[in-house]
Amino acid sequence: MQQGIKRIGILTSGGDAPGMNAVVRAVVRTALSQDVECVGVRRGYNGLINGDFVRMDASSVSHIIEKGGTVLYTARSEEFLTDEGQNKAVATCRLLGLDAVVAIGGDGTFCGALALSRHGIPVIGIPATIDNDLGCSQYTVGFDTACNTAVAAIDMLRDTMQSHERCSLVEVMGRQAGYLALYVGIATGATAVLIPERPVDIERDIVEKIRQARLSGRTHYMIVVAEGAGNAFDIAAQIKESIGLDPRVTVLGHIQRGGSPSSRDRETATRMGYQAVRCLLEGKGNRVIAARDGKVVDIDIAEALAMTKPFPMDRYEVLEAVAAHGK
Ligand code: F6P
Repeated sequence: MQQGIKRIGILTSGGDAPGMNAVVRAVVRTALSQDVECVGVRRGYNGLINGDFVRMDASSVSHIIEKGGTVLYTARSEEFLTDEGQNKAVATCRLLGLDAVVAIGGDGTFCGALALSRHGIPVIGIPATIDNDLGCSQYTVGFDTACNTAVAAIDMLRDTMQSHERCSLVEVMGRQAGYLALYVGIATGATAVLIPERPVDIERDIVEKIRQARLSGRTHYMIVVAEGAGNAFDIAAQIKESIGLDPRVTVLGHIQRGGSPSSRDRETATRMGYQAVRCLLEGKGNRVIAARDGKVVDIDIAEALAMTKPFPMDRYEVLEAVAAHGK
């Protein structure tokens, strides 16, 4: 490994995701193993603007691999969107002697990374968001844990829905993407799932499916709605209007962002954090780390931001085939 890099700044930005701490730990430990210092930048890009930092040694990241949230705090920085904010951030990098920055987060974080790299600071982005909505990476840290959290909540809801023979409507996060809703819908055996990637028709996508389930002998129904596919309360009202059921609505909300990361998220986070430091020490900057075909690779930031990934619509067919019959 090359030794041009002596000190790295690390930040987490945007919505937090389980596994962010595991990324921070992997970056710090890998860097220290190569005699590179680490500075934790707190509160995302705001921390770079304001010089809000903490020095990080090996023990500062002990026992954080299993912790949800982010020990570095996070924020969505309006100021960093301005030239003035970016210039202040660059000045902080120069003042603290940061040779590079590792930025952990989603789409907004990567846009920030691109801006910073255009100001001459080498930056590596690492994908961590429960939405799994980054085109460059087949997987984003936090998605698996968020799915498991939603599945655990829905399993509990199902108990009471079954007892009362009710219809339950659960709204899950995901911003404009339906990954969480679809994966969780399959894993919980949902009667129907609404996702933004598919034009919504309440009659076809929910009412008719409830009817089929009823004809198969079912007396409770679990409907999973991606937040980007519509308002759960409006949809519940439409179901009531159409077939007279009175769905109970549960918005899982920020619960999905918390909790101890799953083994998949810890392992992916650790490999990605390691790869980020390797990139920097090999003289590469302005890259993002991505999961592709089981491998951890690096891609130019601008190219990564322009990439799209196909939504796994085949999984929707699986869901429909399995949900249509049986009690
Ligand atoms: O991007 C992560 C996410 O949790 C989305 O799923 C959700 O739409 C959004 O962030 C919520 O943001 P906030 O924490 O600002 O309410």
